[in-house]
Amino acid sequence: MAEVVNLLEAFVEALPEPVLVIGRQQRIVAANSAARALFPALRVQNTLPFVLRAPDVLEATARVLAGGPATLTMLHERVPVERLFQVHAAPFLAAGEAYAVLTLRDLTDARRVERMRVDFIANASHELRTPLASLLGFIETLQGAAREDSVARERFLAIMRDQGRRMARLIDDLLSLSKVEQQEHVRPQTPVDLVEVVRHCIDGLTPMAQESGVHLHLDAPMDTPMSLILAGDRDELLRVAENLIENAIKYGAGPAGSQSRIDIALQAQGSLARLTVRDFGPGIPAEHLPRLTERFYRVDAGASRAKGGTGLGLALVKHVVARHRGTLKIASQPGQGAEFIVEFPLLVPEKVVL
Ligand SMILES: Nc1ncnc2c1ncn2[C@@H]1O[C@H](COP(=O)(O)OP(=O)(O)OP(=O)(O)O)[C@@H](O)[C@H]1O
Ligand SMILES: [Mg+2]
Repeated sequence: MAEVVNLLEAFVEALPEPVLVIGRQQRIVAANSAARALFPALRVQNTLPFVLRAPDVLEATARVLAGGPATLTMLHERVPVERLFQVHAAPFLAAGEAYAVLTLRDLTDARRVERMRVDFIANASHELRTPLASLLGFIETLQGAAREDSVARERFLAIMRDQGRRMARLIDDLLSLSKVEQQEHVRPQTPVDLVEVVRHCIDGLTPMAQESGVHLHLDAPMDTPMSLILAGDRDELLRVAENLIENAIKYGAGPAGSQSRIDIALQAQGSLARLTVRDFGPGIPAEHLPRLTERFYRVDAGASRAKGGTGLGLALVKHVVARHRGTLKIASQPGQGAEFIVEFPLLVPEKVVL
């Protein structure tokens, strides 16, 4: 008997997934490290109901111990974090004694991925359906009521062009996102100057900033040469800077008519290059911060959509930063603006010219 138990203990310890061997009266006979990590209160010789308050699993175990066949049940743990397991309870006979072997398979990640996939399709279709419905509506009007009205036609065509561009942009963003995600494990190799990238972005976004009454202030000496060279993908880095600065202009501008500024800073910090984009707008309430980089996540979906946003910008930023082995930090005090900081490893820290 003791020999059987020793053997069982050694055997379950060799298995990677959480495994428990339950004996007579639901007593825990053996459990491997994976199972002990999962249930810190677990002690061999305790009874299973003492460790697990999951009626389905306890019932299945009892049935197996009573000679029933192997069964599958689910275990839903809510503390300390929500996790979902599939529990396989199988009968095991050794030295005339009946045992139940419980093997747990963690389905938490699979479930999350599945939920993300479903949400993603729903979100993407929803975002495409709105401009598409509007396009179809205008086409019908142009074919009918407004057929001979050249003024209305011009106006409708302009709106249709905007809606069409919006759809094209959404698809472009989705494709870039999936491309970056696919290549996330491949670190880019080309030397790219972050300073040049950011300056290029600022040049491109200055007209938009002026229209919104915002001044883009770059905190990097314009006259002395400065470069922050990364192993990177220039186009992707451009998208990062563009998204952050564009967001600051879109969501960080003061009330209409007021002159506000956006501070963009570039620094070398030891072996890291740091880009900071800071605005002095309304900021972002704390509860939204952890979710901002989720695809399609927007604090105020209506306001973002009105500005042509799809909620994919920061998701793209996150993946590009990860691909460049960098980090993204977001800080905000509501009412005081928001600060986005990205840091990338420098290619040759000691050669940075300041
Ligand atoms: N500087 C900021 N100040 C306040 N809110 C912000 C700021 N930057 C981003 N946000 C919030 O985060 C949301 C997500 O930003 P993200 O860039 O991912 O999407 P978007 O700008 O709405 O769309 P897209 O980038 O695709 O045009 C925004 O909709 C906005 O609510
Ligand atoms: Mg954006």
